[in-house]
Amino acid sequence: MKWTRKHLLGLEDLSAEEIMHVLETADSFKEVSTRSIKKVPALRGKTVVTLFFEPSTRTTTSFGLAARRLSADVISVGGQMSSSVKGETLVDTARNVEAMGVDIMVVRHQAAGAPLLLSQKLDCSVVNAGDGAHEHPTQGLLDIYTIREMCGKLEGLKVGIVGDITHSRVARSDIWGLQKLGAEVFVTGPATLVPKDIDKLGATVIDDMDTLVETCDVINMLRIQFERQEEAYLPSAREYSRLFGLNAKRMQKAKPNVIIMHPGPINRGLEISPEVADGNKSVILRQVTNGLAVRMAVLYLVAGSE
Ligand code: CP
Repeated sequence: MKWTRKHLLGLEDLSAEEIMHVLETADSFKEVSTRSIKKVPALRGKTVVTLFFEPSTRTTTSFGLAARRLSADVISVGGQMSSSVKGETLVDTARNVEAMGVDIMVVRHQAAGAPLLLSQKLDCSVVNAGDGAHEHPTQGLLDIYTIREMCGKLEGLKVGIVGDITHSRVARSDIWGLQKLGAEVFVTGPATLVPKDIDKLGATVIDDMDTLVETCDVINMLRIQFERQEEAYLPSAREYSRLFGLNAKRMQKAKPNVIIMHPGPINRGLEISPEVADGNKSVILRQVTNGLAVRMAVLYLVAGSE
């Protein structure tokens, strides 16, 4: 297929064919990071800006490295250090940055829809690096890439997503993307953190964690997002851990070839125990490694370099 999209705003918008095209493009970029000189000239002369209004370790580093490995010029603008704290609007900040000759703007913002707004106001490509509780499309793509790599297929797989579904943009991107490629998605979590209408997205709600663990080929543990919770959604961290945490005892119920995922950052000992996070079923660091190839693919495709 020929890639025609200028922006990447969410997996809800992409077809199965487009998602597969990103994964296959990432396949060809994965090898670059194993070379002694980890660089290709695909985006030479292009400028990428990462504009992040929320904290990030993985996504900002991954996009920055991905752009450098494609030989682009990269500038990182931290939203909290930008003139937005002096009252400048998001659109004005982005327009001023774009005026310096930017080709791709990678945006993380606490407001759902912020990257969509910028895609309507700017001439450059916009890539969503996480917008509120809406979508985190490159996390969804790297999750799908990792599942396909580890399980050898997506069609017919049962993927469980556990925890704070309400506040999770990762859950939404995973649900959209995985179903388009034929996987079945199950969710579980406290009733206060599982949206009542999540079945409208096609996910099946399972009430208890043990059943989800027994059912699924892939278990994706979400972080409890304390920073997005204005109310007390959880009785206590200990109660949450007992009911929905993944630990060695619960892992005894899992399928022999199960893989354990987490988008990070981890609340160690809360949603996942250290022995599971660091155990032989965990692919958490593989997700991070794959994220680099997936983001190289996304930057390459939205730049129209194909
Ligand atoms: N998974 C993820 O988005 O991590 P960061 O918040 O560290 O970027």
